[in-house]
Amino acid sequence: MKYYRDLAPPPRTIMTPGPVEVDPRVLRAMSYPILGQFDPEFTALMNETMDMLRSVFMTDNKWAYPVDGTSRSGIEAVLVSLIEPGDRVLVPIYGRFGHLLVEISKRCGAEVVTLEKEWGSVFAPEEIVAAIRKFRPKLVAVVHGETSTGRLQPLEGISEACREADALLVVDAVATIGGVKVAADEWGIDAVIGGTQKCLSVPAGLAPITYNSRAEAKLLKRKRIERGLLMGDEAQDPAFRPIQSNYLDLSQLQDYWSPARLNHHTEATTMLYALREGLRLVLEEGLEERFARHRLQERALVAGIEAMGLGLYGDPASKMPVVTCIEIPDGIDGEAVRSMLLGDFGIEIASSFGPLKGRIWRIGTMGYSCSKRNVLLTLGALEAVLLRHGCKLEAGAAVQAAMDVYKMG
Ligand SMILES: Cc1ncc(COP(=O)(O)O)c(C=O)c1O
Repeated sequence: MKYYRDLAPPPRTIMTPGPVEVDPRVLRAMSYPILGQFDPEFTALMNETMDMLRSVFMTDNKWAYPVDGTSRSGIEAVLVSLIEPGDRVLVPIYGRFGHLLVEISKRCGAEVVTLEKEWGSVFAPEEIVAAIRKFRPKLVAVVHGETSTGRLQPLEGISEACREADALLVVDAVATIGGVKVAADEWGIDAVIGGTQKCLSVPAGLAPITYNSRAEAKLLKRKRIERGLLMGDEAQDPAFRPIQSNYLDLSQLQDYWSPARLNHHTEATTMLYALREGLRLVLEEGLEERFARHRLQERALVAGIEAMGLGLYGDPASKMPVVTCIEIPDGIDGEAVRSMLLGDFGIEIASSFGPLKGRIWRIGTMGYSCSKRNVLLTLGALEAVLLRHGCKLEAGAAVQAAMDVYKMG
């Protein structure tokens, strides 16, 4: 047999907008023995996970559970379940992930209307409200934290316009959940999708979602059994628009997550252990305390970056606290810097997409990676690497500036 080396991932400090480092408690949880998915011990863990997800999404919704797959499986499950072919869907786009919402909505048969903002800024909520009044969509899908541009879209005030137009409000909070406030009920969001591998610091592989009774009503309308239809019986009811997915059909998934436990897929039991432990860590820390930790680390990082004389990309008023976008100085090869950071220091920072490719670096301060140690190491290493690349900067200033922030608290 051909020899394959032992698995020995090198130590890394991961300062990207995901995936980020995982708390050892989560890794330990993943090494526990498997339980059968209908074992009462396991279904009790499922219920506890639902309970903790409600707290993290800040909601009293009945439904809060993970979809198996990476975050986009949650996005796709929500959209394919809530969009009926022909529905008008409004997507305000201010970065790459807005385009993902458009692509998925189109695949669901939506007539998509978009609003576009120049990358680096976000919409005033009134602009989205005006578009809802003008286009009267059935669904509005918007990204809360755009990791591609490091911007945070304010969501307050949008849900009232959605309700006036009888539209559902769907929010991609993949990059913000667990690091920045995401208040599903207070902001009137009908369905929210979170991500595990970012501020929750759980490996990629599940997509926690929550949705309210307005969203559920739409699902149930599309469920055969509720309409007395059998498979292939649509002809009896031409108004019936079945959900065009089995794996991602929320009406079936919620039956599996309900006390009825109707069999659907085989649950990813190890991933559920991981999510449950990750949520326990979030709630033990406290949501407010966790958001404050993310803001403090952001301030220290930004102080260090500015002390190096580097420019921050984008409108500061809409900066996402957990992603910092840095302009690559003229004459510097951004990829060479990243690869020296990784090769010599074991520190990973991110490049960027589309129009920003080669123009900015993105540093994430998320979840378990969001620590004083990591911020100071990253600043010290970046400074050293930039000096090696011929950048003119004052050696030592970045780390000192960040340390001043920590001293002030
Ligand atoms: C804002 C946002 N939405 C969606 C996604 C897609 O998530 P995944 O890669 O887990 O499918 C990402 C991933 O980076 C993201 O940052």
